[in-house]
Amino acid sequence: MSSLTIPTATLPSNQSYSSHAQALRNDLISYVEGLAQQGDYLKIPLGFGLKAYFVNDAEAVQEILLKQAKKVEKPGNVKRVAKGVFGENLFTSDGELWQQLRSTLQPAFQAKRLNAQVEMMVDTTESAIASWKIGQVVDLSAAMMDLTLGITTQALFGQDLRHTPAADSLLSFLDLFSELISSFPIPLWIPTPKHLAIKHHFRVMNSYFRTWVAERKRSSQDGDDVLSMLVQAQQADASGRLSDQQICNEVSNLFAAGYEVVAHTLAFSCYLLTQYPDVEARLREELDRVLGDPSKTAARSGRPITAADLPQLSYLERVIKESMRLLPVTTVLSRQVIEEIQLPGGYTLPKGSLVLISPWTLQRRSDYFPDPLQFNPDRFQNPDNIPKFAYLPFSAGPRVCIGNLLAMMQMKVNLAILLQQYRFSIAPNYQFKPIYRFNTRPQGGLPVVIEERSRQGATTIN
Ligand code: HEM
Repeated sequence: MSSLTIPTATLPSNQSYSSHAQALRNDLISYVEGLAQQGDYLKIPLGFGLKAYFVNDAEAVQEILLKQAKKVEKPGNVKRVAKGVFGENLFTSDGELWQQLRSTLQPAFQAKRLNAQVEMMVDTTESAIASWKIGQVVDLSAAMMDLTLGITTQALFGQDLRHTPAADSLLSFLDLFSELISSFPIPLWIPTPKHLAIKHHFRVMNSYFRTWVAERKRSSQDGDDVLSMLVQAQQADASGRLSDQQICNEVSNLFAAGYEVVAHTLAFSCYLLTQYPDVEARLREELDRVLGDPSKTAARSGRPITAADLPQLSYLERVIKESMRLLPVTTVLSRQVIEEIQLPGGYTLPKGSLVLISPWTLQRRSDYFPDPLQFNPDRFQNPDNIPKFAYLPFSAGPRVCIGNLLAMMQMKVNLAILLQQYRFSIAPNYQFKPIYRFNTRPQGGLPVVIEERSRQGATTIN
């Protein structure tokens, strides 16, 4: 079948980069925005003999991530680095192995199981913010990283690792991993100082995991954390496929995949709320209605949120969804084509090529999301208004984020408690700018002034 020629992208003229590879590496957000202005299908002259394409059309994305998902894999460079340091795991695997790992891990992320974590999330959030003083300037981005570290390590490993040597090794490992995956690929067997350091941190981190796995096996108690659940799954599976090392690989990968993205999404949601007082007021109104209005009681805030409250906080959910539309932390998803793909409109993605799909640019298309730069949570009131595969903060299709329910649950609990207790305004002279560093985050953190939450109750929006 004849195929339409995909036009070649030009380098955006307002950028000073000399090649596509350099522009992509140094300023991914501006780069994909520049591509989206040129068309929905583009060939990217990355050099190094690589055939790469940019696809910014929801129907085509549905083909790649769902209908023809068997024809794509995780790209070779990502797999090489990730496998080299973590070993084989859910994120890096494809085909049958991926399917096996996914079905082993999936039960740990079911809503029923996750509900047991809400109390821990509430306690950790309340204690993290208890020492904040009115008038104090807090870097909300750093505070959300610390809070998420506490919650993620409890959800995954059953213990709060903040301020422990184990967390130091996990974070040093993650920093180096992010650096390696975003930089020019040098084979891991070459003993560069960074390669030696990441292998050292992995060994240290792994020895903690091995100890915890051994402890779980000795203990007769079943914990709610993911590590305990994997040990139970191992004991129930006679095939022996889930080795101790595989469990360690999975939990380190889950930590890497789930920790920073939740913290940055929370920071972005808080930032957007400071910019849209009407949205913030409506959200406070919902929280007061469901959790109690402090202006009508002697209490400083309403009652603590429980798992049973979550389904009633629909505006909170819409606020988070809209934050992830406007400021998604995953700027680009990439896939390697292993078998030729025919796309709607007569385009072909050849075998061996790399495809880049950008939630950032798709979610800012005005034909999919009218008035796209406006923060308008009501877009999500009617799911039919959201075109299929145009909204991808957690990706979509079989490789959709396995932690999406956990992440949504944590973010709802965190935001509810933050807003029940305080109000935030952006610190003077701060200029907000999202930047991409492995994932997207606020440049220079997010300094806010902590303010008294109004005792008048929320303003009603007519
Ligand atoms: C706001 C929070 C989060 C966002 C925005 C997010 C986003 C994503 C995205 C876009 C993908 C697809 C990546 C790709 O296919 O290239 C993904 C996959 C994944 N995420 Fe998340 N994630 C979040 C939280 C979490 C959490 C809390 C965990 C676990 C603790 C987690 C674990 C994973 C794993 C293991 C995968 C790979 C799944 C597979 O390939 O089968 N994520 N996530």
